[in-house]
Amino acid sequence: MSRYRIAWLPGDGVGQEVMECARLVLDALEVEADYIPGDIGWEFWKQEGDALPQRTIDLLHTTDCALFGAITSKPKEEAARELAPELQDKGLVYFSPIVRLRQLFRLHTNLRPCKAYPGNPLNYKDNIDLVIFRENTEGMYGGVEFHPLPQEVYDVLVKHNPKMKKFESAGLDNIAMSTRIMTRQGCENILTRAFEFARKTGRKSVTLVDKPNVLRETGGLIRRVAKEVARKYPGIELWESNIDAMCMWLVKNPEKYDVIVAENMFGDILSDLAAQLVGGLGFACSANIGDDYAVFEPTHGSAPKYFGQHKVNPIAMILTAKMMLDWLGETEKADRLERAVADVIREGQVGTYDMGMNNTNLEVAGAIAGKLR
Ligand code: IPM
Ligand code: MG
Repeated sequence: MSRYRIAWLPGDGVGQEVMECARLVLDALEVEADYIPGDIGWEFWKQEGDALPQRTIDLLHTTDCALFGAITSKPKEEAARELAPELQDKGLVYFSPIVRLRQLFRLHTNLRPCKAYPGNPLNYKDNIDLVIFRENTEGMYGGVEFHPLPQEVYDVLVKHNPKMKKFESAGLDNIAMSTRIMTRQGCENILTRAFEFARKTGRKSVTLVDKPNVLRETGGLIRRVAKEVARKYPGIELWESNIDAMCMWLVKNPEKYDVIVAENMFGDILSDLAAQLVGGLGFACSANIGDDYAVFEPTHGSAPKYFGQHKVNPIAMILTAKMMLDWLGETEKADRLERAVADVIREGQVGTYDMGMNNTNLEVAGAIAGKLR
């Protein structure tokens, strides 16, 4: 029997291609794993009205972790229009399966390293090496949203906050509300993980990014918790920045940052920005980590227009597989894989179109696998 059971979730579009590439390197590393395919993605939404069928959730419960490719997702109305005829008008609502997985499996920590590998022609600067800790289940992704605004919600909010009165004239039908809910536990967890990581990897600062001057309650809470947690790590400095300023600082001095902590939505935005500094989404790997389960996914989407052309960069997916190996405790294999990726980038002989070359993703993966054998 293999050592690990890994759920294999290619999903949509180029997700399938880059997973093929991941498989090439995992096989070259001789990871002792069974890869069990699971149904997830747009096809299942269209045919069954559920992009993450229950059978897939059941399957994941029998595995150690999941490797995930990419998913097509569309806004509510557009998604509903693409349902099979017999599913139309049943009130089915599309939810992003990756967001659902994060909630269902309590994958509270989204880890997004952004590292400039030397020789990558797309590096904005060569000395960038930062890691984003994105809170992954709370904030604006908590799913507490309303439209129209229910009367009882309105009443409670008005009683709590007379400033809401100005919205009354709009009419409840005309008010849409999405909430940002944060808990002390959620804040403590993400901050502790970030500081622990900084301590273990010898990094000197942790930067909390939020907007407490405007979002005073949620922003205030995470800020207070950050100061409490920081006290337990005397060797590591706590820096703070507002999200808007941070976008500027990251473009100006990205090399100054070590570990960045942000709530869900701000972390989402920052991680795309930071990814672009080290080559773009073709290099952006990520891990959704819970207490006893994890789902690993490249940050890029399913890029339907490129599907079938084998042209999208597989490195994000391959570095994602590296994160999975780390999480499984296979650190020797993880290190070897990262070195192989770094070597191929440095040598500059093979690369996908985004890197100014014209190899297929299978060729890039093949070159990386070649270094592992
Ligand atoms: C990401 C993506 C997702 C998110 C989308 C696809 C729901 O942008 O993982 O960064 O917003 O978290
Ligand atoms: Mg995103």
